[in-house]
Amino acid sequence: MNTVTTQQPAGGRIYLYKRYERFWHWSQALLVITMLITGFEVHGSYHLLGFAPAVRLHTLTAWALLMLWAFTIFWQFTTGEWRQYLPTHKKVAAMALYYSWGMFRGAPHPFRKTTQKKHNPLQRLAYLALLAMISPLIWGSGLLYLFRAFWPSLGIDRWLTLEWVAWAHTAGAFLMLAFVIAHVYLTTTGHTLTAHIKAMVTGWEETHDDAPGDPAVPVAKP
Ligand code: HEM
Repeated sequence: MNTVTTQQPAGGRIYLYKRYERFWHWSQALLVITMLITGFEVHGSYHLLGFAPAVRLHTLTAWALLMLWAFTIFWQFTTGEWRQYLPTHKKVAAMALYYSWGMFRGAPHPFRKTTQKKHNPLQRLAYLALLAMISPLIWGSGLLYLFRAFWPSLGIDRWLTLEWVAWAHTAGAFLMLAFVIAHVYLTTTGHTLTAHIKAMVTGWEETHDDAPGDPAVPVAKP
């Protein structure tokens, strides 16, 4: 087995994102952006493809995303990578201070990534909000929207209106849009503008010795 250590001297690099991880990240990004573009066309915000093709593409993309998530949940649990999403309160305040103040004054990053801890504490909280709030809202309302023809036979129309579902789904879409904008902005806050993006393309992240890290742990190379 080839091994690399998670802690390298300044100027080194660590293998942070595995092949499947990069695949699901970028395909999810593509699918979510397609959902945003087609969803807001269905909403009537602009005219691009036409209403009916936008609805078709929106529905097709939703099924593709569902399949991708099914595979990804399986991957997260079989590899143990799901632990990366467990929230922690340690260094949350330090990270918030860094993003709002320190980053603009050249302060050292309070967190160093390792293969065991890829996400900083604020990132963990943001992903948890996405998983526990935005996704259930958008999926729940999206599935209700999609299967609205079955409401009468299931008795759902007695306590829910399409107006409410449309409202919830659109609110979820705006939250998702806000998440995507914040996420893309934060990807530009690495050592260079594109450092984090490059890492998600190649899997390798450049390391810099400006933050306290964890002890070196050997990990398997793909
Ligand atoms: C990133 C994810 C998503 C975004 C940003 C998004 C966005 C939107 C928006 C803005 C609308 C228009 C709502 C309105 O004005 O009433 C819409 C409609 C809709 N969405 Fe989504 N959506 C997403 C995911 C989903 C998912 C996962 C499903 C299904 C499981 C889904 C199913 C639908 C359906 C069925 C409609 C109504 C289309 C019609 O009028 O027939 N969406 N979506």
